[in-house]
Amino acid sequence: MRSSANIVVLTGSGISAESGLSTFRENGGLWDQHRVEDVATPEAFARDPNLVQRFYNARRARLNEVGPNEAHYALARLEQHQNDTGRGSLLIVTQNVDNLHETAGSKNVLHMHGELRKVRCRACGSVITWLQDVEQSTPCPTCGQAPALRPHIVWFGEMPFHLNEIDNALQHADLFVSIGTSGNVYPAAGFVSMVRAIGRAHTLELNLQPSETHSQFAEARHGPATDVVANWVNEIIKTEELS
Ligand code: OAD
Repeated sequence: MRSSANIVVLTGSGISAESGLSTFRENGGLWDQHRVEDVATPEAFARDPNLVQRFYNARRARLNEVGPNEAHYALARLEQHQNDTGRGSLLIVTQNVDNLHETAGSKNVLHMHGELRKVRCRACGSVITWLQDVEQSTPCPTCGQAPALRPHIVWFGEMPFHLNEIDNALQHADLFVSIGTSGNVYPAAGFVSMVRAIGRAHTLELNLQPSETHSQFAEARHGPATDVVANWVNEIIKTEELS
């Protein structure tokens, strides 16, 4: 087992699939049921804000019906282990807009595509935790403007969040692990090649099936996240306990 001092984990919708949340590009996935151009671009929001709000209201409401699975819990255990032993760190960079990593107990999480349980005011810029539906008539609790609230979600054509922090973490990573993502959406899909170019970290893919970028990983394990992630975390913890 390689050095696991600084671990960066990239997660995608596949890690939440066994919790009952849809992925995007698989049969029956979100982009099978809705056109990206209708619900996930700034132009869509300008054209039909009610439709876009309804799409994200439904997804926000769905979070009340699901909980973390064994893969989320395993990553939270690994973060705790890293902290307890002082051997290093664990950062989760997630493309997911759900809250399942946090509910499982993970603390060090960057949501690069935003969060369903937050809204942003287009008038005053405040970002507000939001658990209910949002209507166009809902006033911003900070500045009172309406319509002004939008989902705190990165739409196609917008810049992902936390890119400097992510870049810094990738520069210092000893282990980069990609979980449950198809490798279709950049910049996240390009992290593995960045890490390889830096030349420091071991790279591991944990996914149901080989992703678009699978050939760039030094190692891959394929299967459901609840199996492969939990097994991998148990291996790391056991190896370190023996060393
Ligand atoms: P995709 O739907 O593109 O890919 C999901 C991946 O998860 C696939 O490779 C599946 O094989 C894998 N998968 C499915 N079930 C799994 C399981 N039980 N265990 C492990 N892996 C499983 O979703 P993402 O890669 O997350 O962005 O999509 C990336 C981004 O595209 C999303 O963040 C979203 C979307 O458009 C925005 O909306 C900005």
